Amino acid sequence: MCGIIGYTGYRNAVPVLIQGLEQLEYRGYDSAGIVCYDHRKGGFFLIKEKGKLAVLKEKIGNFSVDAHVGIGHTRWATHGEPSRANAHPHIDASGRVALVHNGIIENYAALKAVLQKKKVRFVSQTDTEVGAQLIGRCYVKGKGKSLFEAAKAAIPQMRGYFAFVLLSKDNPDTLVAYKHSNPLVIGLGQGENFVASDVTALLPYTRQVIYLEDDDLAVITRKDVRIFSLKSQTWVKREPATVHWNVSQAQKQGFPHFMLKEMHEQPVVLRNILEKRISKKGDIFFDTMTGGFRSRLRQIDRVYMVSCGTAHHAGLVGSVAMEKYARIPCRTQVSSEFRYGDPILSAKDLVILITQSGETADTLAALREAKAKGAATLAIVNVVGSTIAREADAVLYTHAGPEIGVASTKAYIAQLATLLLLVFYTGKLRRKIHPREFKTLIRDFRRLPEHCAKVLQEGKRFEACAQKHFSRRHFLYIGRGYNYPTALEGALKLKEISYAHAHGYAAGEMKHGPIALIDHEQPVICIAPDSLTYEKMISNIQEIRARDGIVIAIGSRGHHDLEKMADEFFSIPRTQEVFSPILTIIPLQFLAYKVAVLNGRDVDQPRNLAKSVTVE
Ligand code: G6P
Repeated sequence: MCGIIGYTGYRNAVPVLIQGLEQLEYRGYDSAGIVCYDHRKGGFFLIKEKGKLAVLKEKIGNFSVDAHVGIGHTRWATHGEPSRANAHPHIDASGRVALVHNGIIENYAALKAVLQKKKVRFVSQTDTEVGAQLIGRCYVKGKGKSLFEAAKAAIPQMRGYFAFVLLSKDNPDTLVAYKHSNPLVIGLGQGENFVASDVTALLPYTRQVIYLEDDDLAVITRKDVRIFSLKSQTWVKREPATVHWNVSQAQKQGFPHFMLKEMHEQPVVLRNILEKRISKKGDIFFDTMTGGFRSRLRQIDRVYMVSCGTAHHAGLVGSVAMEKYARIPCRTQVSSEFRYGDPILSAKDLVILITQSGETADTLAALREAKAKGAATLAIVNVVGSTIAREADAVLYTHAGPEIGVASTKAYIAQLATLLLLVFYTGKLRRKIHPREFKTLIRDFRRLPEHCAKVLQEGKRFEACAQKHFSRRHFLYIGRGYNYPTALEGALKLKEISYAHAHGYAAGEMKHGPIALIDHEQPVICIAPDSLTYEKMISNIQEIRARDGIVIAIGSRGHHDLEKMADEFFSIPRTQEVFSPILTIIPLQFLAYKVAVLNGRDVDQPRNLAKSVTVE
């Protein structure tokens, strides 16, 4: 989704802004722009274009600009089509104030009508321009006294979820930044400062950051950062934090796509989690969980797993495991349904929010709903310091490192691993897992990085399978138990990046509909590792074969009966059923990846999708 970068300092601002926007490209966008204060010419240098950053960069190449301050933006269209006019930055009618913005100003239509009555002329269809015009008017009416005062006067009139950064012509060393639900982080340098919607944009320059809190209005100069809280109406001090990610983690490192690189990082991610979470003696520990939260965990009666997209599929796996090993009734819901469903919650409920970015708007709203109703909240998050991580009662970080590819891979594996450890931890705490069984679970968990590496080694074989099927337009995925969510996730991966229609189904439901689709042209991806329901899966596969369907099976090593039955067979090392989703998803990630590449798709930035969905 949209990305923001701002800079004030001693460097040439143009390349800093462009590099920042490049780091934000992965979020998904359809147009981009920058505005700088050109010291030589004494005015704004504004340039924006529809399409990829390369188009903007080529345009900028024709100009020489002497600027040390500026703001930039990648836009993912919400109000108004992708076009140059709708791209950010937007400049107010007086030409003195420039603004970039993420999120939505919900009452923009009413504000626009009022401004139009005052003869303000609009040049775009965006809600953003309304923000720029409103703040611009406050600024001009205050006779250009201060951009900070203008923003402070305008913000209470704006409703919605957003973050923005402002630059004025009159005081061009200063940026003014405001956060309300959408993330903004300030990067601290020596004689320079930065602001961005996402920490990855800051990594080339600094790892010292301040995460703004809701309703913080920051005044950023090259030497100084001051923060005013609109909530408390006072100047506040926010402690800087150190980011532990580095630039190379956010680069392709020789892989053609981030997605492929991130798939190959999965064994390392599992090893990291293992090292961080399992002691030499075989105990699970969560550094961020307090004693108070632990005792709450002992007493809860019900668990909800709430999340979106891929994280929702991790929640489905976690929920099956929670009921089996911790014996706590557990319900899984997508955040957008949970938040509006008026959930019945009390202090005896635990709501687990699962999110890679920690910023997904619906999941954030679900967290706030759960807190307001008195439930205990626990966030499973990848991005350290993100809003959901900070607002939940407790947080478990997944330690997957930066994930850039829009289609989530390593973050999913990390969510699964973290959720399973949480389940085993809770089961042990509540004495639902026998110590012997606990030991076996830990022993088998420890083998996962090696198993995962073995599945990845089969990459070439997935290529051959994709070659055969890449031009097909419909795929069906089926699984049972722990691997029903794998069917959903496998189908999601394929549709996200290849744009083929793919549907995940519980195999037991085949006869209630999907079997009507089966003919000699219908590929069915059957996820059937060792499990309680293996025999049932075999029966489902027989039914598909009897109707000439194409069977692509994922099974456990040594299952020759399944291998013989399938047109294509991929195996995973043998493991307990509860761990199998961590391995069975890998062939499906590969399949999706290869099909997308063969179709010439933009794997890392598929059309219309965004990495971090910060609007409803
Ligand atoms: C977007 C991304 C998905 C992700 C989902 C939830 O749709 O493209 O990869 O699973 O958002 O994001 P979150 O950051 O909350 O896990």
